[in-house]
Amino acid sequence: MNLVKVIVLILMSSFVNINNGYRILGIFPSRPRSHHIMFDAICKELANRGHHVDVMTMYPNKNPPKNYNVIANFEKYDESVVNKFNISFAMKIDGIVLRRISEYHGNRICEYLGLPEIQKIVKNPPTNPAYDLVIVESFGANCFIGIGHVLKVPVIMASSTLDLPWLDNALGQPANTAFFPSFFTINIHPMSFFTRLFNTLNYHINLIGYQQLTKAIQNSQMKKYLDDNIPPLEELEKNVVLALVNSFHSLNGIRPITPSIIEVGGLHVNSNFVPLPKVSHKNTKVFITHGGLMGTQEALTYGIPLIGIPLFGDQPANIIYYSKLNMSLHLDINNLTEDTISHALNEILNNPKYKNAAVFQSARFLDRPMSPIDTAIYWTEYAIRNGQNSLRSPVVDMSWWQVNLLDVYLFIIILFLIILFTIIFLFNMAWRIVLSTRKHDKND
Ligand SMILES: *[C@@H]1O[C@H](CO)[C@@H](O)[C@H](O)[C@H]1NC(C)=O
Ligand SMILES: *[C@@H]1O[C@H](CO)[C@@H](O)[C@H](O)[C@H]1NC(C)=O
Ligand SMILES: *[C@@H]1O[C@H](CO)[C@@H](O)[C@H](O)[C@H]1NC(C)=O
Repeated sequence: MNLVKVIVLILMSSFVNINNGYRILGIFPSRPRSHHIMFDAICKELANRGHHVDVMTMYPNKNPPKNYNVIANFEKYDESVVNKFNISFAMKIDGIVLRRISEYHGNRICEYLGLPEIQKIVKNPPTNPAYDLVIVESFGANCFIGIGHVLKVPVIMASSTLDLPWLDNALGQPANTAFFPSFFTINIHPMSFFTRLFNTLNYHINLIGYQQLTKAIQNSQMKKYLDDNIPPLEELEKNVVLALVNSFHSLNGIRPITPSIIEVGGLHVNSNFVPLPKVSHKNTKVFITHGGLMGTQEALTYGIPLIGIPLFGDQPANIIYYSKLNMSLHLDINNLTEDTISHALNEILNNPKYKNAAVFQSARFLDRPMSPIDTAIYWTEYAIRNGQNSLRSPVVDMSWWQVNLLDVYLFIIILFLIILFTIIFLFNMAWRIVLSTRKHDKND
C-alpha cells in the first residue's frame, strides 16, 4: 500500500516537473558578440531550470545544457566580428551609431525572417509542446516581435544595454531627460539648461530617426515573410509584456521606471558565465577597459577600479557613470601617451579612494532582494503566467500630449490669462467710471 503511494507520488512529481517546464523561443540574430553574453546566460539558466529553450543565434553555446537547442545558427549567414574589430574601425562608427543600429543591426538582420529555419517555425509551428513565450533582443531588429504575433504567444525583450528610446516608447517608460542621460550621451545629472535642452532633443531625434530608418522597411519585411495581414510594428511593440534591461539604479542612477522594465544589470556575472576570469582574481588591482557594459559590470561586481578608454556607442557614457562613482579614471583614446597612462595607473594604484569606492559600489550593486539572474527567470515566467497585457502601461494607448498633460497645462494657462485680463478690464472700467464721476463732480 505504502509502496504504491510512493510510486504514485514519484509519478505525480515527475508530471509536475514536465508541466512546470515551458517551451521558450529565444531569437538573438544580431552580430555584436558581447550582447550574447547576457542572452546566453538567460537561455542557459532557463534550460537549467527545466524549461525547453529553442534558440536562434549567431553564437551557439559551446557547452549547451540539456533542454537547450539551437534551431537556427546564423553563423553561416553572417561574418563573426570576433577578433576583427580594430581601433580605426571602432572610432569610425562612433558618429553613425543610430544608423548602424537601425540598418546594419536592424533592417539587414530582418531579412533572416525569410530563412528556411525561421520559415519552418512560422509556417509549421511545433505543437508538441507549443511555444509559451518568445524572447527577442531589443536593439535594431524589432521585426522579430512579429514571430510572437504569428505564434500567438507573449513576447518579452532583452536589452544588453540600457533601455533604448524606442524600447521606452514601446513600454510607456518616461524619458526623464531632465536628469537621465539620453541614448548613449554623457549628459549626467546635474545638467545645465542647455544640456537638458540637448539631452531632450537628442532623445526625441534618435527616437524619430530610428522609426524613420526602420518602420517602413521592417513592416514590409514582416508582411512579406510572416503574414500579409500582420499589424504594424508600432502596434506589436505595445504588446511586448516586459523587457529585461542590463542596468541597475546603483550604477545608472535613480529614475522612475515602469514595472515592465526589469533591471537585471550584472546578470551574466553570477550565473557561472565568466568571460573575464582574471577580473575576479584576488590580485587584480585595476581593469583597463574600453568601457563595455559587460566587462565593467564584472569589475563592479568584484570591486575592481577601472581605467576606461572608451571608443563608441554606450562606452563613453558607461565610463562617465563609473567615474562619477569615483571608481574609474577616463583616458582619451586620442591622447594615449606613456605619460597619461602611467599617470592614471599611479593614481589608481596609490590613491585608495578608487579601490574603496569600487568595494563600496560593489556591495550596493549586489544588494538586491533577488540575484539578477533569478529576477530575470522570475519575470520571464511571470510573462508566461500572466500574458500579454499584464504590465501594459496606459501611456502606450494615449497621445504624447495627453501623457505630458500639455492640454491640461494649456487650459490652465489660458484660464489664468482670461481671469487676469478680465480683472484688468474690470479695473480699467472701474477706474474710468471713477475718473468720469470726478470730472462730473468738478464740473458741478
Ligand atoms: C580595420 O577594419 C576595417 C574593417 O574591418 C578594415 O577595412 C581595415 O583595413 C582595418 N584596418 C587595419 C589597420 O587593420
Ligand atoms: C567622489 O569623490 C568626491 C571627492 O573626492 C566626493 O565629493 C564625491 O561625493 C564622491 N562621490 C561618490 C559618489 O562617492
Ligand atoms: C592629454 O593629457 C594630458 C594629461 O592628462 C593633459 O594635460 C592634456 O591637456 C591632454 N591633451 C589633450 C589634447 O586632451
